[in-house]
Amino acid sequence: METSKIYKDLLERVGRSEGERGSKVYLRTFGCQMNVRDSQLLKGLLLQEGFSLTDREQDADVVIFNTCAVRKHAEDRVFSILGGIGKRKERIGRPRVIALVGCMAEEWKERAFEKAGYLNIVCGPNDLYRLPLAIRNAFFSPDRRIVLVGSPSREEDFYRKGNWFVEGESAFVIVMEGCNNFCSYCIVPYVRGRERSRPWQEVVSEVKKLVAQGVSKFTLLGQNVNSYQGGVDFPDLLEKVAMVEGVKSLSFATSHPKDATDRLFEVMARYPNIEKYLHLPLQSGSDRILKLMNRGYTFEDYRRKVDSYRQIVSGGKISTDLIVGFPTETEEDFQKTVEAVKSIGFDCAYIFKYSPRPFTKASMMGDDVPLEAKERRHQILLSLQKEISLQKKDKFGGCDFS
Ligand code: 5AD
Ligand code: SF4
Repeated sequence: METSKIYKDLLERVGRSEGERGSKVYLRTFGCQMNVRDSQLLKGLLLQEGFSLTDREQDADVVIFNTCAVRKHAEDRVFSILGGIGKRKERIGRPRVIALVGCMAEEWKERAFEKAGYLNIVCGPNDLYRLPLAIRNAFFSPDRRIVLVGSPSREEDFYRKGNWFVEGESAFVIVMEGCNNFCSYCIVPYVRGRERSRPWQEVVSEVKKLVAQGVSKFTLLGQNVNSYQGGVDFPDLLEKVAMVEGVKSLSFATSHPKDATDRLFEVMARYPNIEKYLHLPLQSGSDRILKLMNRGYTFEDYRRKVDSYRQIVSGGKISTDLIVGFPTETEEDFQKTVEAVKSIGFDCAYIFKYSPRPFTKASMMGDDVPLEAKERRHQILLSLQKEISLQKKDKFGGCDFS
């Protein structure tokens, strides 16, 4: 609240120069659904602050990339695309401002300017509400380098105005953010921060507001929704949202296997408007690797969870995430993942090659699985999963096998 006032005072003082009034912003989003939602919030905020939006990067005065830090490959891509835009900025002075925002910004902080000298602003996911003012400052002093990172959580108001910029009949609603799990390969707890939940009343009232605006399909979002603690637990929250009149379809992501309970499955089974679909990342079929990953379950635990899900939610679909080439992964470990994929029969699986990420425990273990082995294992799982999905005649979207 306090921050909001300071922010508004500052805006008053800085005012709006002719130069930036109605400036066109091009915003491109990478990564997860949380980022998609953050970008919607950001668009709403920018419009409210007098900017306009464009889909054409070439026309933009301001270019913003909302980024993902989960895998190195995606980062390289962002720097490569931004590099092209940066060159144009240096050549012809357009765009005037380039901002790197989201998880990569939180990871790179000031170092981003060494890597990409054309950047004006680096702004982490918990500081997005400060971005309009930063853009304004960058217009005034183009040589200044602005770094906004490290907020413990995003400003409350940014949540409360959560129904901004929703188009059509579907909406994401953020119910919790951050993660306390510290899986050893994952950068998320370091860039998104610790878990924090919105009070359930706030979630329900946002859903009701959105229904009144014509939204009928909802996805509740959180890095680990089953750790939700906003006055009630996640199964109760799901039930409360399912009961809101006008909610025709309801899904959620992401669930951690160690926290997904029978109660959750029972709620899913009870309400016809809840999608019978569960994304339950397994990561590896080898108990040794799961332990090193700090996942908190064995394959047998996982398998039992899937069994009860399928028993309680009849016809329920299931998708997963898998990592190949985690440090020390042997052929034998990998074969366990192959067996796991065969025995569970996922409807769809997202398969990733391990890449070391800064701050993480696994990054200190060395990256000892050769790239060829990672690529081969990746290919094997991809074709196996493709076959399984075909057998299931899966028409279920969202899994592109890339
Ligand atoms: N390397 C490869 N894949 C990763 N993921 C997270 N961190 C890494 C990493 N360092 C994958 C996990 C996670 C998904 C979102 O991204 O499978 O569930
Ligand atoms: Fe990362 Fe694990 Fe948290 Fe998922 S549960 S965001 S993989 S640390």
